[in-house]
Amino acid sequence: MVGVKKKEIRIGMVGYQFMGKAHSHAYRDLPFYFDNPLKPVLKAISGRNEEAVKEAQKKMGWESYETDWRALIKRDDIDVIDIVTPNHTHAEIAIAAAEAGKHIITEKPLALNVEDAKRMLTAVRKNGVKHMICHNYRFVPAVQYAKQLIDEGRLGKIYHYRGSYLQDFIIDPNFPLIWRLQKEISGSGALGDIGAHSIDLARFLIGEFKEIVSTMDTFIKERPIGEMTGGLSAKGNSEEMGEVTVDDATSFLARFENGALGNFEATRFAAGNRNKNKFEINGEKGSIRWDMENMNNLEVYFTDDEEGVQGFRMINCTEEVHPYVGAYWPAGHIIGYEHTFIHLMDEFLRGIAGDYQPSPNFEDGVKNQILLEAIEQSAKDKKWIEIGS
Ligand SMILES: NC(=O)c1ccc[n+]([C@@H]2O[C@H](COP(=O)([O-])OP(=O)(O)OC[C@H]3O[C@@H](n4cnc5c(N)ncnc54)[C@H](O)[C@@H]3O)[C@@H](O)[C@H]2O)c1
Repeated sequence: MVGVKKKEIRIGMVGYQFMGKAHSHAYRDLPFYFDNPLKPVLKAISGRNEEAVKEAQKKMGWESYETDWRALIKRDDIDVIDIVTPNHTHAEIAIAAAEAGKHIITEKPLALNVEDAKRMLTAVRKNGVKHMICHNYRFVPAVQYAKQLIDEGRLGKIYHYRGSYLQDFIIDPNFPLIWRLQKEISGSGALGDIGAHSIDLARFLIGEFKEIVSTMDTFIKERPIGEMTGGLSAKGNSEEMGEVTVDDATSFLARFENGALGNFEATRFAAGNRNKNKFEINGEKGSIRWDMENMNNLEVYFTDDEEGVQGFRMINCTEEVHPYVGAYWPAGHIIGYEHTFIHLMDEFLRGIAGDYQPSPNFEDGVKNQILLEAIEQSAKDKKWIEIGS
């Protein structure tokens, strides 16, 4: 309504590189496209390097900056803490934020291990704050539509879930030893970095895992020391070499609670695959498949289609009936990666405004972490593992 000022929600973000850019953009564009009851205000960002954080503050449109995340959390002009730092920092920052009464959104994976993940869940529950984990691929309109079709029973009983997430950005043995390749900072390698998204998509689309068995490997054992420079790029700092302490590739088989069989692969050594996050689901009445590299399209096959014209049909999920896209452009005028974050933030702020707990949240993060830990254990023990809660 013209003239009615929306209630503001003041965001404080920790970190400001790859995901910092994606989240900042989402807060900025959200009110432009969606009629959310809350208007995000980009209040402050924090980073350890003053010059760099100052530059990021200006470039991404934040009102102020801090050089210590603890100072950010202490501020009483901040309602939400958004965590876009490496995985080993999530638990400490999230627990401190919860204790300060801030709502929290954190990047995935939730933590380095199940113990920390559970402590985070306890902290947000105890302090009654809203929480979300950034599994943004749930928020692709085509994925949301796939979920609708499955929930309507259009595929019938589900037999197979095939999920793979393939990248190739570290295939060069000289690619530096970034934080993503160090266990004490990242928890695991391809598994937690990208396999976690496949796990979340499978849980979202067809339900809980019952048991898993896995294998994993590290192809390049040593790399030159270096650091991320934004996105998935990095630079080496010296001639010095360091040990890679995480998996380069992980594969696992699964059984789901609903009886479906699962087949999963996460690797950063699949040459030519830049960000091939994909799934195929086969049910008694048909199949659905999707691939992030063509994210607006959903391929659907129904067994009861007329003989002679049977085959996968390609649906461009940009029609008014498809989730979220009505807020943007006419049909066929496609959207992209950054929009998945806008949809996720929209859900987060609606949860805060409407006093309900949005998903995926820390509970999903804990379930995901239980799977990550079990998959690592299974590869060590060469055994199937039952998934507990
Ligand atoms: N949802 C997705 O698709 C997606 C994609 C990429 C990354 N991620 C996740 O987002 C998080 C950040 O990843 P990224 O790619 O943006 O990383 P990045 O390396 O690009 O940026 C990390 C940021 O954290 C800051 N930082 C690093 N160590 C810190 C510390 N100890 N204390 C405070 N700040 C610190 C850095 O200065 C930088 O601003 C990770 O948890 C990662 O798994 C998610």
